[in-house]
Amino acid sequence: MGAAPMRYEAPRGMRDFYPEDMSARQAVFGAWRAAAELFGFLPYDACVVESLDLLKRKGGEEIVGQIYAFRDKSDRELALRPEMTPTLARMIAARQNSLALPLKWFAIAQCFRYERMSRGRKREHYQWNLDIVGADAMQAEAEVIACAAEALRQLGLGPQDVAIHLNSRALLAELLAGAGVPPDCHAATFLALDKRGKLDDAAINQLLAEAGLDAAAIAAVWKVMNIRTLAEAGALAGASSPSLAGLRNLLELLDNYGLAEMTQFDIGVIRGLGYYTGVVFEAFDCQRKFRAIFGGGRYDRLLSDLGGAALPAVGLGFGDVVIAELLADRGRLPAGPPEIACAVGYMTDAERLPALRAARNLRQAGLGADLALHPEKPKSFFGRVGRGGYREAVFLGPDDCARGVMRIKDLRLRSEREMPLPG
Ligand code: HAM
Repeated sequence: MGAAPMRYEAPRGMRDFYPEDMSARQAVFGAWRAAAELFGFLPYDACVVESLDLLKRKGGEEIVGQIYAFRDKSDRELALRPEMTPTLARMIAARQNSLALPLKWFAIAQCFRYERMSRGRKREHYQWNLDIVGADAMQAEAEVIACAAEALRQLGLGPQDVAIHLNSRALLAELLAGAGVPPDCHAATFLALDKRGKLDDAAINQLLAEAGLDAAAIAAVWKVMNIRTLAEAGALAGASSPSLAGLRNLLELLDNYGLAEMTQFDIGVIRGLGYYTGVVFEAFDCQRKFRAIFGGGRYDRLLSDLGGAALPAVGLGFGDVVIAELLADRGRLPAGPPEIACAVGYMTDAERLPALRAARNLRQAGLGADLALHPEKPKSFFGRVGRGGYREAVFLGPDDCARGVMRIKDLRLRSEREMPLPG
């Protein structure tokens, strides 16, 4: 029996990025980075391997069951991070006495989750994380959301394409308490309600019952879920509700960022992570064809839960998968490999060193130059570079060297300029 044939595809749910896939990825990463920098966020990074202990939290969260965990050769329990937030919390706790607060940090982090494969969900994705730690003002929520909206704008997407849905777990807690759900059942109730859309109502009722809710409380919870407007929420929570005032304040701030059209209250946004304590939000394409584009919220207790100082925090995660699907759907996803400024070729071995010096000269001027590795006929060179990927081309023959010039052809404009050949 021969060995099983080698399989060349990446493991299920993991992605390879060939050069032709990289323009799209660079466009998304570029918009993320540019928006973060425009809003004054500083970059940070960490290793993808994290201690399993940090990532395991109280039960109920889907993400904990999706962790890729392993033991190293010293029997340490480790894992590939499924999200960046615990790592950020750990890094901040480690320097809590020396960091100047509030801090605004961003990262583009590769994350791994053993997900059931579906459209928009893979087992590995890159996630832009934007977090503000050490600020309890609603201004922090507004900055994070406005920064994400700026990234969308840079990708050519506006309020006609994307809607940001906002809610507040603090408001939900007030409403649930009013509905007779005791506070120690709230966390499990949130996680059950977050499954709406994925599970049917009967299955959610089952989860609510498991969370400790009786039939009357379950009926009251569904009444809360039917709230459509802030006014309706106010009628149930009372006009003096602080969390309602907070949401109104956030919507007003977002209006001043020019984002009124893109943002809306939505009682159905709960989020599937346990650590959120205040405002929660998720962005969707307006036609609701795709999964959430980004999601986040306020998590004021995560750092103290990890044993660090109590620090208020708010942030979001914005993955590269759904946004790429949406951009492709709109015909806005760049295709092909990133362009190289100039191809440099030569006819015979005698022009190899002049061509090398020409490439060196271009590179010193900051232009990308792809120097041919062998002499070739002009037809072969121009056929190759004409297939795309280059803006300009230089091909050196004996005549050019005799005249001491290089002719730089613009491949799109089909124009030509001459420069002295560097000696
Ligand atoms: P999350 O909602 O689990 O939040 O993920 C945030 C975003 O990451 C999603 O909206 C989606 O764009 C992307 N994403 C998540 N899982 C996958 C997957 N399996 N495949 C493709 N894309 C995915 C968090 O992770 C929080 N830690 C975000 C956060 C940061 N909250 C505060 N700071």
